[in-house]
Amino acid sequence: MRHLLSIEDLSREDIERIVAQAERFAEVSDREIKKVPALRGRMVLNLFYEASTRTRSSFELAAKRLSADVVNFAASGSSVEKGESLKDTVLTLSAHRPDAIVLRTPWAGASELVSRWCAAAIVNAGDGKHEHPTQALLDVYTLRQRLGRIDGARIWIVGDVAHSRVARSNVLAFQRMGAAVTVAGPPTLIPRGVHELGCEVRYTLDELHGADVVYALRMQRERMSEQWVPSLREYAAWYQINARRLAPGQLLMHPGPVNRGVELSGEVVDSPQAVITAQVEAGVVVRMAVLYELLAGAREPAGAAQPPLEPSAAAQPLVGSRPA
Ligand code: CP
Repeated sequence: MRHLLSIEDLSREDIERIVAQAERFAEVSDREIKKVPALRGRMVLNLFYEASTRTRSSFELAAKRLSADVVNFAASGSSVEKGESLKDTVLTLSAHRPDAIVLRTPWAGASELVSRWCAAAIVNAGDGKHEHPTQALLDVYTLRQRLGRIDGARIWIVGDVAHSRVARSNVLAFQRMGAAVTVAGPPTLIPRGVHELGCEVRYTLDELHGADVVYALRMQRERMSEQWVPSLREYAAWYQINARRLAPGQLLMHPGPVNRGVELSGEVVDSPQAVITAQVEAGVVVRMAVLYELLAGAREPAGAAQPPLEPSAAAQPLVGSRPA
């Protein structure tokens, strides 16, 4: 794997391999010193043009636990504010020879473009309304931990599908893993043609009781240029997941950040059925597995003209090795 741009590019075997690697890395997270030398000498550049709490912090932790050097770049406070373009910013930062660039932008397709401009491996950390592949991988990991297997699971993805990059990545990933996926929400927030991804579509929650997993989406008000629902109060009346709608035994997921009182009631967020903090925890080990997949096999750091001074850290055993 050269880049991680889209779940569409991954087979079931690819997803299983990354999840299995993440399960091995979970052991590292339980150690007193949570570090392995796998990516020593490599550089990971986190390039974020949009706000993020979960994704940015977990990529930083993941890279550090693999002993990579990490550079964090936020568009706010940078020369982007003076008008520097995405391409010129990438070319400028590429002068530091990053081995991987983790990129979040509001622009669909930006990661694919950046992958053509530089030698680094590109990880799409969310590109507009298009995809968020590492979110889908960590959600697969979380479900595997909870359900054992995803084959045959009935998963409902509920809410603002139209503005959600998570919805697209997760429909693809859950189906690759054998789940039956239904998307549900108001007709204005369900994109026409979404059934072509292979999922069922519902405009009410009348059959929600048949789901094993309820995956609620955030109302993405920052991406809405017009009024898509009459009011948030009316949206909540019809589509909010609350104690009345969440059946006993159903797992509740959400990618975060949650709008309490809109797509989820406070009581279900805080209930034992919610696995939202487990999803955040999974983010670190899954992103470790993604960086390892992309970088550990590479022969030498990107752009390196000289052979490394030490044997490649990637050749060292990962799990079971002593902490660096
Ligand atoms: N789920 C997710 O991408 O959260 P952040 O925007 O906080 O990274």
